[in-house]
Amino acid sequence: MRNTTGKRNELRKLAAWMAVLLAGAAPLAGQTTLRQAAAARGIPFGAAASADEYGPPDLLKNTNYANLLSTQYDMLEPGNAMKWDVTQPALNTYNFQPGDELVAFAQANGMRVRGHNLCWHTQFPSWLQPYASSSTTTPADMATLLQNHITTEVTHFAGKVFAWDVVNEAFTDTTPSVLGDSIWYDQPGIGPSGTGYIEQAFRWAHAADPNALLFYNDYSIEGPGAKFNAVLAMVTDFVNRGVPINGVGFEMHLELNGYPNFYPSPAGLAQNMQALAALGIQVHISEMDVRLPVNSSGLATAAELQQQAQIYQDVMTVCLQQPNCTAFQVWGVSYNDSWIPSFFSGYGAALPFDFNYQPTPAFSSLMTALTTATPAPVLKTTQVVNAAGYQGGAVSPGEIVTIFAAGYGFGPASLVNYQLDSSGKFSTNLGGVEVLFDGVPAPLVYAEAGQVSAVVPFEVAGEQQTAIQYRYNPGGGTVVSNTVTMPVAAAVPAIFSLAETGSGPGAIENQDYSINGASNPAASGTEIQIFGTGGGSVADAIDGALAPGAGSLVTQPVTATIGGVNAQVDYAGPAPGLVNGAIQVNLTVPSGLTPGPQPVVITIGTAQTQAGITVAVK
Ligand code: XIL
Repeated sequence: MRNTTGKRNELRKLAAWMAVLLAGAAPLAGQTTLRQAAAARGIPFGAAASADEYGPPDLLKNTNYANLLSTQYDMLEPGNAMKWDVTQPALNTYNFQPGDELVAFAQANGMRVRGHNLCWHTQFPSWLQPYASSSTTTPADMATLLQNHITTEVTHFAGKVFAWDVVNEAFTDTTPSVLGDSIWYDQPGIGPSGTGYIEQAFRWAHAADPNALLFYNDYSIEGPGAKFNAVLAMVTDFVNRGVPINGVGFEMHLELNGYPNFYPSPAGLAQNMQALAALGIQVHISEMDVRLPVNSSGLATAAELQQQAQIYQDVMTVCLQQPNCTAFQVWGVSYNDSWIPSFFSGYGAALPFDFNYQPTPAFSSLMTALTTATPAPVLKTTQVVNAAGYQGGAVSPGEIVTIFAAGYGFGPASLVNYQLDSSGKFSTNLGGVEVLFDGVPAPLVYAEAGQVSAVVPFEVAGEQQTAIQYRYNPGGGTVVSNTVTMPVAAAVPAIFSLAETGSGPGAIENQDYSINGASNPAASGTEIQIFGTGGGSVADAIDGALAPGAGSLVTQPVTATIGGVNAQVDYAGPAPGLVNGAIQVNLTVPSGLTPGPQPVVITIGTAQTQAGITVAVK
């Protein structure tokens, strides 16, 4: 074993190599519209929109309306134009013209279209009620009507509408919440018992457009309670039985309602979203508005507008923090076309744009949420890889892993390199980031938004699997990722590469400690020192400690080849001066090799380092 003094700078070298891997954070400068800010967060921001479905004037022909809709929103949902009363004005006579006009406007302006709705207890055409009430109408007749309508409408808009509210507002506001009376459910209904009519509607919609996302949409399900419980039970049953449902729309028609204790509380909203996330179900905030008491001019007080703004900000923040909240929409483009004044007497001023199409305080607070809210990081097993070789699938004790964390703003905006704590060990918290393995915080090599490098605690040795989670506390609250479980392998070895690509010339020093390379090849009979990680257990290893020097060797057998020829292993253990978990393997270069780059492979236990790493020999 060689004298290993002179290795202390390697720690900095390794950290520097890894730092080069960092990706830059997306810049936020220059966003002036909600549409731009939402796009930067990867979330559609929509509005309920109208054309002339109930007669002139055609709102899309109003320049102020059309400009605001196309600049501030990148999604629209027809407020009425795709409902039964518009689309099937007479039996088997369809009118898709207003819906088509809205779709054309959306397409011309790069906007998505959310479809609304296919099955509801109200807003159906006048010919249908007597039909439904007739004593001779059978459930089979109603089933035919509903199936034909859903099939015709979804087929017409297939490829144009990305998500449909298939069934709207089916549950009562009572405790417990039950299915409400409707022509489709029980008056006379289409036949199936319980939620069977809803299930059938989803199946017909799916058959007509298998690519559309299918939603159940309702109000007063944003917070915990009897109505959410009823919806959750139905969705759970649907998911368990493979009924094609993708999401739940939280309408979010709110009022101040005892602000700041408004319904739903942000925590309650997050809880409901998480309950659906556990089923693999998305949530769209589908119809948000926050109605305020207004004067005879339809205007609210400044104080109440501020409270309303906070509610908008809180709801948007929760949506951004819950990975399954995938769209945010308000119910109307501006005060001018809001449904609130005509449905809630004395109320109005419910939206982020006023009668002059100008932004209200809610606009600013939504912008604040979109540009500053920290989302919960999303962790996937495929994002946890060896820091040297980028191979994944399993982790090993002491392995330095890089975690590529999807999600915006997870971690400090600029790189924070490793820090030593008061006991001289690598800190387990860098800039507010922590990574836990079975609840044990791991020593961190560096952290930055979107990427963190951690040393797998040696305690995972002997475990079948380990549960990984990361947390970020920038101050003022911790966001916590989901937990992923990965198998634990005895070793997952890899050699660092000079170009940080995981292949090509390795992080290898010649006998004189100079960096090995094409212009600095190693002679046969000399010793090279190879740096890697994932070598598995090491005697006397301490999480986060700097390697104490010679003595504590890799516990599993180590062999190696250079250019396919066995190379004598002189040392395999911690790299003195580097954090425990980095390993150094010293090999004697065999004779008889062809000069030039030769593949070097180290086997630890039964696992080999990655293919494609070379050492230059002469
Ligand atoms: C409203 C429309 O905005 C009004 O124009 C119409 O007169 C009645 O319906 N929940 C829903 C929406 O799912 O379809 C409703 O839209 C608002 C409540």
